[in-house]
Amino acid sequence: MNVAIVGASGAVGQEFLRVLAEQEFPIDHLRLFGSERSAGSLIPFKGKEYEVELLSEDSDFSGVDIAFTSAGAGTSKKYADVITKHGAVMIDNSSAFRMDKDVPLVVPEVNPEDALDRPRNIIGNPNCTTIQMVVALKPIHDLSPITSVRVATYQAASGAGAAAMKELEEQYAAIVRGEKPKVEKFAYQLAYNLIPQVDVFVDNDYTKEEMKMFHETRKIMHSDDIRVSATCVRVPVMRAHSEAVWVETERPLEISEVREAFEKAPGLVVSDNPAEKEYPMPYDKAGQDPVYVGRLRKDISDDRGLSFWVVGDQIKKGAALNAVQIAQWLIANDPRFSAEKQ
Ligand code: A2P
Repeated sequence: MNVAIVGASGAVGQEFLRVLAEQEFPIDHLRLFGSERSAGSLIPFKGKEYEVELLSEDSDFSGVDIAFTSAGAGTSKKYADVITKHGAVMIDNSSAFRMDKDVPLVVPEVNPEDALDRPRNIIGNPNCTTIQMVVALKPIHDLSPITSVRVATYQAASGAGAAAMKELEEQYAAIVRGEKPKVEKFAYQLAYNLIPQVDVFVDNDYTKEEMKMFHETRKIMHSDDIRVSATCVRVPVMRAHSEAVWVETERPLEISEVREAFEKAPGLVVSDNPAEKEYPMPYDKAGQDPVYVGRLRKDISDDRGLSFWVVGDQIKKGAALNAVQIAQWLIANDPRFSAEKQ
């Protein structure tokens, strides 16, 4: 495969490189792109250095099979044609095209076949909070259709990019030195704080992030009956997101059958033993591939309800790993790529 990464210097871009190496993704040629800020700089990959190219209207993507893009929605919109016009499949981590009807939105554990129908050669990588939630929702939905989801998220600094992670670190260091922490990437100081706003507010007083969870879940799970009410909160954690989830299904489910379905579900690891204080936490799940689920119990406020806790690394399964898994699925299942392999 000839692979391009757009946004290679960023938090997700760097993770693309780590995941491609970890997964031993078959790469013949690799090209890296960025803005003026990183163009010309050298980025190492598997013992070689690659120069970052400036992304422009004149960039030539001919010969590229798969382009992983994570450089913001504006950049994706501006350069989608440049990237895809010679046939490259653009797997886009931004929100630019996720809800477009002619762009599939894919989580390989849930709806991999959708990736085959991509008239614009663009595949959307869903929002990080949605990805880790639907990996846990899918096995429940297969037991009995889900009618509603209520979720509170605890979102790490990584979701706001590499500079935001640095800002959180520097805020703690400044506080220890007795100095006033610098606030640039977040609306408020995040150190020792929680910010109950991720992205901008929309007309119904939810935020855009919360409405992404509503719309993207329906699209990925092919169900307009699921309603998702989310409260998204930024927390002073570095890179794994956590979510408290309350689900209502059409028929009441036994905890034992849900646990069994969770245990069999791809990409999901059950970490749930209250007697031993065992449950997933962002601190020890950062950097891990799977989505972890724990605290599974009946919802005592709802006969058809369940409650559980989900943790997933935002940069890995929430972004880079999911995108790479989409590409791996295409290589294994899309006749275009199987033909190229032979
Ligand atoms: P650069 O560093 O060259 O500006 P993060 O999400 O961690 O903040 O990273 C954002 C990524 O998107 C960076 O790699 C950044 O590259 C890239 N990027 C931002 N704007 C553009 C652009 N106009 N063209 C290409 N890459 C861009």
